[in-house]
Amino acid sequence: MEWHIEQLVNRISLFFAAIATLSLIYLFLRYPLSCAPSALNRRSHSQSLTLAHSPFPRSSCDAASRDVVPPEKRFNKLRSTRAFHRRVESFSSVFFSLRSLGLLFNASHVLCVSAGAGHEISALLDSGVVDVTGVELVDFPPLVKRADPHNLPFFDGIFDLGFSTGFGAALFPGRFVEEIERTVRRGGSTVLAVDGWGTKEGVDGVEKLFKMSNLLEVRNFTLDGSPMTLIVMRKTSSITRQN
Ligand SMILES: *[C@@H]1O[C@H](CO)[C@@H](O)[C@H](O)[C@H]1NC(C)=O
Ligand SMILES: *[C@@H]1O[C@H](CO)[C@@H](O)[C@H](O)[C@H]1NC(C)=O
Repeated sequence: MEWHIEQLVNRISLFFAAIATLSLIYLFLRYPLSCAPSALNRRSHSQSLTLAHSPFPRSSCDAASRDVVPPEKRFNKLRSTRAFHRRVESFSSVFFSLRSLGLLFNASHVLCVSAGAGHEISALLDSGVVDVTGVELVDFPPLVKRADPHNLPFFDGIFDLGFSTGFGAALFPGRFVEEIERTVRRGGSTVLAVDGWGTKEGVDGVEKLFKMSNLLEVRNFTLDGSPMTLIVMRKTSSITRQN
């Protein structure tokens, strides 16, 4: 019991630390220092007068506005790294196995929750799946939009497959599962990739959080060198089961 509470407290403080950090990053990206509104005016003015003599930023404001990397460029840079490819390949083999289970097709509507920079989305698109939606607490264009995994901005039952590697880090695992399960159609599936090789108790614990789905498959696999467990749930009902 104490261990459980301690873990909850740890999670909560981690969550708030993350929120604070993300807010700061967001503010910095949005408003490069406090001079944003006048930067344009001042710049065009000073540029015509002094640009030739002054190749260096005239103030920290000028420097900040130069340093903001356009989202597309940031993503392209990331996409060109070996680490990115390695992780995408790991996901490709996961999705290949979901195809062989008959849970994924090119025409599937797929939702990826807590998608980070969108590695799994890249893997899906590369394999020919056309309709993939990715969300994360902060947006990461062009593949990932901002949305809270605990409160997904989608109607019930609109996806064929819900996929996430974010369950282990969710502040409210029950709510996290409830939301992803809600957005999947009856007959569709929710697939969680959880850290570590799954023990029977661990898998049972995750399975119990689902109220409209049954366990279809559990698989050990490695994602980018780390041991993971794939828990595949199939939605059999649209009505919440009490258990
Ligand atoms: C899915 O799309 C990819 C890319 O367009 C294609 O190569 C593949 O054959 C398609 N798979 C099926 C089963 O149609
Ligand atoms: C996954 O690995 C663990 C540890 O080796 C093992 O206990 C478990 O049975 C494996 N699960 C599956 C589904 O293979």
